[in-house]
Amino acid sequence: MTTLAIDQVDKRYGGVQALKDASLELRAGEVHGLLGPNGSGKSTLNKVMSGAVKPDRARIRVDGTEISIDRPLDAQRHGIASVYQHLSIVPHLTVAENLVLGTEATRAGFLAPGRQRKRIDEVLERLAPGLGPRVRPDTRAGRLGPGQSQILELGKAWLRDPRFLVLDEATASLHRDQVELLFSVVRELTADGVGVVFVSHRMEEVLALCQRATILRNGLNVATVEVAETTDKEIVRLMVGDDLAARVGAATETNRRPDQDPVIATTDLVADGVDRVTLQVRPGEVLGLGGLQGQGQSELLLSLFGANPAGAGEISVGGRPRRLGRPRTAIRAGIALVPGDRGKEGLYDKRSIQENISTVSLRARSLLGAISMRKERTVAREQVKAMSIKIGSLDDPVSSLSGGNQQKVVIGKWLPANPRIVLLDDPTKGVDVGAKAEIYTIIRALTADGVAVVLNSSDDTELEELADRVLVLFEGGVVSELEGDEITHSALVASALRVDDEEEAMPS
Ligand SMILES: Nc1ncnc2c1ncn2[C@@H]1O[C@H](COP(=O)(O)OP(=O)(O)OP(=O)(O)O)[C@@H](O)[C@H]1O
Ligand SMILES: [Mg+2]
Repeated sequence: MTTLAIDQVDKRYGGVQALKDASLELRAGEVHGLLGPNGSGKSTLNKVMSGAVKPDRARIRVDGTEISIDRPLDAQRHGIASVYQHLSIVPHLTVAENLVLGTEATRAGFLAPGRQRKRIDEVLERLAPGLGPRVRPDTRAGRLGPGQSQILELGKAWLRDPRFLVLDEATASLHRDQVELLFSVVRELTADGVGVVFVSHRMEEVLALCQRATILRNGLNVATVEVAETTDKEIVRLMVGDDLAARVGAATETNRRPDQDPVIATTDLVADGVDRVTLQVRPGEVLGLGGLQGQGQSELLLSLFGANPAGAGEISVGGRPRRLGRPRTAIRAGIALVPGDRGKEGLYDKRSIQENISTVSLRARSLLGAISMRKERTVAREQVKAMSIKIGSLDDPVSSLSGGNQQKVVIGKWLPANPRIVLLDDPTKGVDVGAKAEIYTIIRALTADGVAVVLNSSDDTELEELADRVLVLFEGGVVSELEGDEITHSALVASALRVDDEEEAMPS
């Protein structure tokens, strides 16, 4: 049986020991979960296997024969393909050009142009339900949303005909129907004997897809388990320890104050991607935005933040009509946005963690008066502590953080600014179960203080857990509204797909 075995892996980044004697054994035809909290070393291990990161020490064997992987090309030659957590799509190239980019070393790269074209069409046709009807081979990749880009990444890896496929949070910004598509591709590949490494912070995905799972904590192996013989509780405990495990999935509570006037409201709001949306959010309320991904949820949040100006309709804040023509005006009105694409909008990559956390609060506070560097450092340190962000030093560039920890910095940025209205665009994507519990606690603390929250989430469980009401969007407009106990998985899927029969709505 074909196996890819990697062990004795050490990797140190400056003062951070990312991996210490870590190992993973991947068998042909299995889906092997690679689990662990943010910053535990999952991506680093994956990058060692795919040649993107040079380890301090590692032994890699394919079918018992030792190989060396010094660069990505070596990994490709041994049939290892990866979908990285950070997307590698080139925005100014087309969808088709992105698909073949870098396939030179693989079988697909040796195909005659006609054959290759045919393979591209096959792959695109299969992925079409996840890309949507408007995406064609000659569409510029820069126009794709995060979910569509992730599907394209899957296509890229698939086109290489891998023997081993590494999926590092390839589902993080996918909606449920796209996840099902990815699962079906993975099952097809494993049936052909491909071994798949699957990294995800969504436990239900791990349980549904993986046969075995290896759990890392602080760069060390904690255990490798047979998923069918283990409970999800046990896996969470192995990942985060006893204390945090107890807090995960704590009961939903509401801080809604239904008798109070809305803090923010719109009437027939029209903007780019937004079609006549009427909504109200009251103090302490969490208004969820559901539906398939890319139906205007992010655009709606942007227009409430003044970054997607309204063409028609009204927005009122605190009962008074406001023209939110630009973010500055929205920030003054007490509105905060935690953007969905942390790469594009959320963080200044090369700047330090401290600078990133203080940009927003500085902007908000400088309206009130100067704040000192020392104050800035104190605020940043408090946020890092409050959200258990795993860092080396506050002065390290934010790009050195693991994916989930970067996401926590994006959220941590806004909290010191004391907003009255918080707009969250898929805030916990890529965030581990422990940190998710922490972020949920933060959201509840905000609503307990009377802050109004609008939450877009690609994760139905999150809407179920946090939202008081959910507006389901389709093509920019509201198609249904769910409230309280009506907010369930099946109701969310049914209204997203716009079918009445819940049975039919469940993608299989
Ligand atoms: N280029 C880098 N420079 C410095 N430190 C790094 C770099 N890449 C990773 N690290 C550190 O190594 C540790 C492991 O990071 P890694 O990205 O492997 O974690 P992860 O398990 O993938 O986390 P997540 O679930 O958040 O994606 C983290 O502490 C991270 O900050
Ligand atoms: Mg990672």
